[in-house]
Amino acid sequence: MGKFKINGGNRLYGELKVNGAKNSVLPILAASILNEGISVMHGCPKLKDVYSMIEILEHLGANVTFKGRDIIVDARNVKDSEIPDNLMRTMRSSIFLMGALISRNKKALMSFPGGCDIGHRPIDLHLKGLRRLGIKIEESYGYIKCEGWKMKGNEIHLDFPSVGATENIMLAAVKAEGVTIIRNAAKEPEIEDLQNFLNSMGAKISGAGTNTIIIEGVKRLHDTEYTIIPDRIVAGTYLCAAVITKGELTVVNALKEHLEPLLSKLRETGCSIQTGNDYIKIRCDKRPKAVDMVITLPYPGFPTDLQPQMVSVLSVADGTTIVTETIFDNRFKYTEELIRMGADIKVEGRVAVIRGVEKLMGAKVVARDLRGGAALIIAGLGAEGTTIVEEAEHIDRGYESIEKALKSVGGDIVRIM
Ligand code: EPZ
Repeated sequence: MGKFKINGGNRLYGELKVNGAKNSVLPILAASILNEGISVMHGCPKLKDVYSMIEILEHLGANVTFKGRDIIVDARNVKDSEIPDNLMRTMRSSIFLMGALISRNKKALMSFPGGCDIGHRPIDLHLKGLRRLGIKIEESYGYIKCEGWKMKGNEIHLDFPSVGATENIMLAAVKAEGVTIIRNAAKEPEIEDLQNFLNSMGAKISGAGTNTIIIEGVKRLHDTEYTIIPDRIVAGTYLCAAVITKGELTVVNALKEHLEPLLSKLRETGCSIQTGNDYIKIRCDKRPKAVDMVITLPYPGFPTDLQPQMVSVLSVADGTTIVTETIFDNRFKYTEELIRMGADIKVEGRVAVIRGVEKLMGAKVVARDLRGGAALIIAGLGAEGTTIVEEAEHIDRGYESIEKALKSVGGDIVRIM
């Protein structure tokens, strides 16, 4: 199990480039098997979850090459429709293959997906939406068996704007006869990216980015080349790291419109932020001020995936902040580790009260999930003394060589085995 060793206190200074979004490339890789041909994705991040998704596609019969930042998927021989339990459990995103396989082979057999330990992560909204398309779904002994021979477009209203359910239904509906309308759809930028990728293959989808998505079924799809949007969560993580070290950082290949909720909160802490077409520059030369409230909400609200990183910043802010996590029911586990570093945080269910302290102290802490782990690295960069973050592999799922990136802008961080 890898670890990171961080000596806190260095100001981050310089420029960091962001690569393609994990939460875009994963559903897009699943979507690539809809085309019985060749799809090329540019700007792909080298992440554990991406390699896991490639392993699943190869298991299904695809031929996948990952060269530089380009992934080439030759899906001409995707015959299999069953995903073994060990591959399903590697990550939550394996669930996207349900909709993709039903579209491609009219059937799918898989177990319930794995994923981060941030709370109960059911797939009832996925299954309810797919059943509305006439897909027969049987759940037994932890396995889900889907058959879509009689699939037809339909109207679907999501009880909650679930990102995964929206994407899975889109994937299943692309080649379904007739028109499908998804209401109360998730509006995240990654949904729009999936729509644009599918349309580049000849799908007929509109409305992604709004709460109503319309999919007109098509018969065939064709080859495509596509560039993945930048990872707004990685960009936001770097910005938080700059703030806690009172640094000055330019994040390049970051779209400010995807980060507005975070930028407005960081401005409230007293940081100065300049933005351009594809960069965000942040400077924070004094202790951040606390903000009154942070409430995570579906996009365009404050993203749950940046909640832990923001809490690390707030744990040394001047004042008290109340953070409410409305998306996941157990996404404050990492605060136990921050408390070991001297943070003053009280958690009650989905609410955390953060009383800023002058300084965190370095300590040995354990990453329990991807974004909580990133929050611990941010805390270590701003702390006095040495911090060891254990279970680095959680963090590697969503960050490409995070230690090299942070070191390149002055962070004193190394990976130790
Ligand atoms: C996606 O997860 C992201 N993952 C998550 O990022 C992100 O936190 C989440 O969307 C919210 O933005 C990927 O895109 C691969 P949801 P997903 O379905 O699709 C409940 C990261 O760190 N729900 O919008 O699983 C669910 O339990 C990861 O990169 C149901 O109840 O999120 C949760 O409480 C973490 N039934 C809430 O909805 C369902 O059928 C949001 O889930 C589906 C979801």
